[in-house]
Amino acid sequence: MALTLSYSTPSLMGTIQVPGDKSISHRSIMFGAMAAGITTVEGFLLGDDCLSTISCFRKLGVEINLDGDKVTITSGGESSWEEPAEVLDTGNSGTTTRLMLGLLAGTSFHTVMAGDESIAKRPMKRIIDPLRLMGADIRGRRGGQFTPLAIQGTRLTAIDYTLPVASAQVKSAILLAGLKAEGRTRVTEPVASRDHTEIMLEHFGAAISRNDGTIEIEGGQTLTASHVKVPGDISSAAFMIGAALITPNSSVRLTNVGTNPTRTGILDVIKKMGADFDVEERQVSGEPAADLTIRSSALSGIEIGGDLIPRLIDEIPLIALIATQANGTTVIKDAEELRVKETDRIAAVVSELAKLGADIQATEDGMIIQGPTPLTGGIVKSYGDHRLGMMEAVAALIASSDVIIDNPACISVSYPGFVEQLDSLLN
Ligand code: S3P
Repeated sequence: MALTLSYSTPSLMGTIQVPGDKSISHRSIMFGAMAAGITTVEGFLLGDDCLSTISCFRKLGVEINLDGDKVTITSGGESSWEEPAEVLDTGNSGTTTRLMLGLLAGTSFHTVMAGDESIAKRPMKRIIDPLRLMGADIRGRRGGQFTPLAIQGTRLTAIDYTLPVASAQVKSAILLAGLKAEGRTRVTEPVASRDHTEIMLEHFGAAISRNDGTIEIEGGQTLTASHVKVPGDISSAAFMIGAALITPNSSVRLTNVGTNPTRTGILDVIKKMGADFDVEERQVSGEPAADLTIRSSALSGIEIGGDLIPRLIDEIPLIALIATQANGTTVIKDAEELRVKETDRIAAVVSELAKLGADIQATEDGMIIQGPTPLTGGIVKSYGDHRLGMMEAVAALIASSDVIIDNPACISVSYPGFVEQLDSLLN
């Protein structure tokens, strides 16, 4: 079913708490399932992706109870996991599929994992190659490039591996496999990617060392059950940040947003574009967080690339939208990873924003946007990609007529209740 959004001269005012961080929520279940004892989580994201992670671990015999955004995981530790009788369905979730590959490679049983149409197109070789070097026995379509994947658990040995792409998912899968491997695993990343796995490993009592882009972990360590407080997801907050910036006469306060420096590229970008906003810091479970107040702002186009890209990779659809309202040219480069996200986000963002009147051009590794351009209404597609759907809903705030979003249901992958929360800020 399509969603029709029509806003006439809105302004946004008020305070909201955005839902929990998706990356941290996934990991809280995985770490809780690995640790013997009872792990409790608060602020858990009840998005479809994180529910896929829960469903996979339940199939491994881990007891997981949900009470609103609180989760209790009761596990006998990783050695108590059972061989699942069914295929593990990872839905739309790349994080579930890829991190679980690292976890399942070192078990003593057989597992099959598969997800939706989008997951079936996403590259898995980047995970399977290093895991095979560790001794993993993983089969998949086209020589192990794509799901469905069959994993025969086996004994793993440590590797010393330099990531060919800046990917937290690849890094995390190797570290999680390394936790069970014989010897000391070393992962070097060319550019820093999100470090929630490293932070949570320490939080659950594992010893790791981190030096100049190299992370080392000794195999054979067991984790200690813990309590995890999940801050709000800055990647979800980004849509509210963008909405407040481009909607005239707006001021929005977002409480308890995770501000891990590996994720705050969006704040660096809006600052450089001239945005008017404040950050008041707090600390949540080893992860920094802050209250953010964002006001409507006159923005200027900028160039975005290099080491900044992994720190804002999921925010690029939204950044493209705000760039349509900025004065001058915005160039996004070094972002070829966007081609292999939930959909090809370069092609999808360019095609849908152009339908709404944006002056936007695709390049091989990014896009070029000239602003400011008024946006019109129109019928746009989400491509089943939650971040496309939310970007289009934010565009509707400033569009001159209705924006009709085809297949908006995907928004619940990371932000259930997004449109309602946006509406609650309308004045
Ligand atoms: C994630 C890492 C990123 C990001 C994804 C979540 C994670 O992917 O795009 O939404 O939780 O580790 P890559 O590591 O593949 O860049």
